[in-house]
Amino acid sequence: MAKRFYVTTAIDYVNSTPHLGTAYEKVGADVLARYRRLMGYETFFLMGTDEHSLNVEKQARAQNLAPQAFCDQMSERFLQTWRRLDLSFDDFIRTTEPRHIRTVQEIFKRIYDRGDIYKSEYKGWYCVSCEAFMKDKDLEDGLCPVHKRKPEWVTENNYFFALSKYQGRLLDHIEANPDFIRPAIRRNEIVNVIKGGLEDISVSRSSVGWGIPVPVDEKQVVYVWFDALINYVTGAGFPHDLARFEQYWPADVHIVGKDITRFHCMIWPAMLMAAGLQPPRGVFGHGFVYVGGGKMSKTEGRSVDPVEAASKYGADALRYYLMREIPFDRDGDFTWENFEMRYNADLANDLGNLVSRTLSMVKRYRGGVIPKPSAQGGSHESDAELAGAARDLMGAVGGYVDELDFTGLLVKAWSVIQLANRYVEVNAPWTLAKEKKDERLDAVLYNLCEAIRIAGILLTPVMPGKCAEIIAQLGLPPVEKGFDFAKAMTWGVLAGGAPIGELAVLFPKTEKK
Ligand code: MSP
Repeated sequence: MAKRFYVTTAIDYVNSTPHLGTAYEKVGADVLARYRRLMGYETFFLMGTDEHSLNVEKQARAQNLAPQAFCDQMSERFLQTWRRLDLSFDDFIRTTEPRHIRTVQEIFKRIYDRGDIYKSEYKGWYCVSCEAFMKDKDLEDGLCPVHKRKPEWVTENNYFFALSKYQGRLLDHIEANPDFIRPAIRRNEIVNVIKGGLEDISVSRSSVGWGIPVPVDEKQVVYVWFDALINYVTGAGFPHDLARFEQYWPADVHIVGKDITRFHCMIWPAMLMAAGLQPPRGVFGHGFVYVGGGKMSKTEGRSVDPVEAASKYGADALRYYLMREIPFDRDGDFTWENFEMRYNADLANDLGNLVSRTLSMVKRYRGGVIPKPSAQGGSHESDAELAGAARDLMGAVGGYVDELDFTGLLVKAWSVIQLANRYVEVNAPWTLAKEKKDERLDAVLYNLCEAIRIAGILLTPVMPGKCAEIIAQLGLPPVEKGFDFAKAMTWGVLAGGAPIGELAVLFPKTEKK
């Protein structure tokens, strides 16, 4: 039976537009999904939009639109942006879809019937921007610490979820599954919060109109977080396609930002336990992308549009930059200067040059046919060094992917690319050609093509478009479903003797675009 892998991202609120921070999360998840597919997993990658928040309703009204019409427009905008970034999601869920409404009502009803949802009075703060209920101790000088705004005072008769009952089970689960919350810094944070004591939470609103009706009380709507988290099981087929659901649930990893890890590591697993379903296998709380050292903010002119960034140097370059520059478990800063620097240094110079100089020499000295190396080609120290470094990289890929350490993977891949460029200098194929040292020239060109083949395949999940071009320029078949990754990850499987493809510049150099 094929190995399965289920990965999700957070579903974005549609009152805002996609920005580089949200794009960073999606690209990271896409890179993971693509590695798993390449490694032969039946992968299901889910993304979507979160449409029932109060802010969405407010925005819609401000624009004189019915909330649903507004959501339709905005969800489409997200979809277009994600397509532009070449994200390979298998499904895109919208929380206003009938399939999701049905799932939310089913889960609410199940938990209610089992006695863990009950009616009571809520008296307290609610921060609309966070869409979260808050306690006095959560506030700083009476303001929401994130939005620096005074939350609303809410007094409502609501439905409550008995979260407090799950404190022990949650702690046991976290302890028994060390990879449930990653990175470790987030796990420690969550464990401390749980140990500090959990209280029951309100999971419905009676004064809000835009939302999924509570199945046992049509006058109330389901709290937006209770609704949104459920998207992960709706997407997997609960309850409308249980056969599929059983294949993919529990999800392998929910990829979410550090600001919402708590919802995913406390409320969500407890909701699932209460509904008689298994918690996800893991939650990865990635860091934040900042601009100019601060949070992305449109009003302060610090928001970067991912479509604009992709148009500048291409979607692949943006994907590479985000994964190379900002380690997935940490925060990082985006600057246009740095982006341009990485584009020119890493992509145009290191990778682009390696491919173009190697393949031009295959064309010039070998009539466009990759040579087959012979025993007479000799085995130089530089050959062993290059093959050794490539083997080391191939052996390390799995570990980097397991850890979602894409920065580490790219740093290592670049050490091989840079070594291959030095290999060109050390072996000076142009001199070998002049001196008619044919066997040695064959071996050198072959080794370079082999290094490029390995880099092209290995980097496909990060730069799918450019790597497809590299592989086509080598004259090799595309990396598609059913591709034998394990076999491809062996030094020396390139057959040689076949013609290369059309050559073209991969990353044209930019002078201050
Ligand atoms: N709708 C909720 C998520 C519900 S998931 C069941 C939400 N939406 S959001 O639009 O505010 O954020 C979407 C994702 O983007 C979150 O994971 C959030 O952490 C992430 N990011 C928002 N700004 C970010 C950066 N500046 N940098 C990195 N990730 C960022 O929360």
